[in-house]
Amino acid sequence: MNTLPTVKHIVAVASGKGGVGKSTVAVNLALALSKKGLRVGLLDADIYGPSQALMLGARVKEGLEVVDELLLPVKLHGIESMSISFVSSERTPAIWRGPMASGAMEQLLMKTKWGELDVLLVDMPPGTGDIQLTLAQKVRVSGAIIVTTPQNVALLDARKGIEMFRRVSIPVMGIVENMSIYVCPECGHEDRVYGSGGGLSVAKEYGTELLGEIPLNSKVRECSDEGQPIFSKDSENLFNEIFLKIADRVQEFLDSSTVPVPSLKISDD
Ligand SMILES: Nc1ncnc2c1ncn2[C@@H]1O[C@H](COP(=O)(O)OP(=O)(O)OP(=O)(O)O)[C@@H](O)[C@H]1O
Ligand SMILES: [Mg+2]
Ligand SMILES: [Zn+2]
Repeated sequence: MNTLPTVKHIVAVASGKGGVGKSTVAVNLALALSKKGLRVGLLDADIYGPSQALMLGARVKEGLEVVDELLLPVKLHGIESMSISFVSSERTPAIWRGPMASGAMEQLLMKTKWGELDVLLVDMPPGTGDIQLTLAQKVRVSGAIIVTTPQNVALLDARKGIEMFRRVSIPVMGIVENMSIYVCPECGHEDRVYGSGGGLSVAKEYGTELLGEIPLNSKVRECSDEGQPIFSKDSENLFNEIFLKIADRVQEFLDSSTVPVPSLKISDD
C-alpha cells in the first residue's frame, strides 16, 4: 500500500451513477475546503470523460512542466489540480504520453508532484469499476463521499457505491444529495424535481450521514461551463453556505480519523 508522501488525506467523491454531480461537488467542495484554510488538491480520475479543465477554466496548451519525472499540477482557484486532459497536449514529453493508455489514473495519482496537501479530493468516474478498485488498492483512502440525486435509480446506484467502498474497507463519510430542490426564480415556488428524502433515507440505511443538500439551479451549470465554479471565494451566496457546511463535516471527519487503515487487498481470484 502506497502513500503519497506529501498528502495527508485522500478522499474519493463518487457515485454509482453518471451525471449526478460528482464533478460539480468535487470542485466546489475543494474550493470550500481551501477557503477554510486547508491545502487542497483535486484529481480528475475520470479518464474517459474528464471535466475538471472545463469546470476550473484551465487552459493548458503548452503541456505541463515535468520535474524529476513528475508532472507539476496546475494551480487554479487556489487548489492544485491534475487531469488527463492536461497531459494530452502534444508537447507533453514522450515518457508521459506512452504509459497514459494503461493505468492512466494511477499514473496521474502517483506521478504528479503534489505539494504539501491536507486533502486530495478524487473526482471519480461513474460506476464501480477498475478505476475505483485501483484507487482503493494503490493508496490509502481516508474516506468516500457519495453523491446522489433523490431519484430512485440514482439511489440504487448510490447503494452499490457505498457497498463497494465497504468491501474495500474505505469508510463512507456521508452522502451529498444533489439537485434536491428547485426554487423558481420567478415566483419562489419549490419543486422537488427528483423526489425527496432519498439521500437521507440511504444515509440512515447505511448508518452514515447526509452531509448536505444542493439545490438544482441553472447557475450551477452555467458557472461550471464558464470555468468559474458557483462557490465563490469573494462573495456570499447560498451555495457557499452549503459547501462550507459540507467542508466543516469533512474536516471534522478527517481530523478525527487517525492514520487511515490500509484498505484490504483484493485478490484476482
Ligand atoms: N445542482 C445543480 N444544478 C444544476 N445543474 C447541475 C447541478 N449539479 C450538476 N449540474 C450539471 O449537471 C451536469 C452533470 O454534472 P457533473 O458533471 O458534476 O456530474 P458527474 O456525476 O460528475 O457526471 P459524470 O458521471 O459524467 O462524471 C453538468 O452539466 C453540471 O453542470
Ligand atoms: Mg464527472
Ligand atoms: Zn414559478
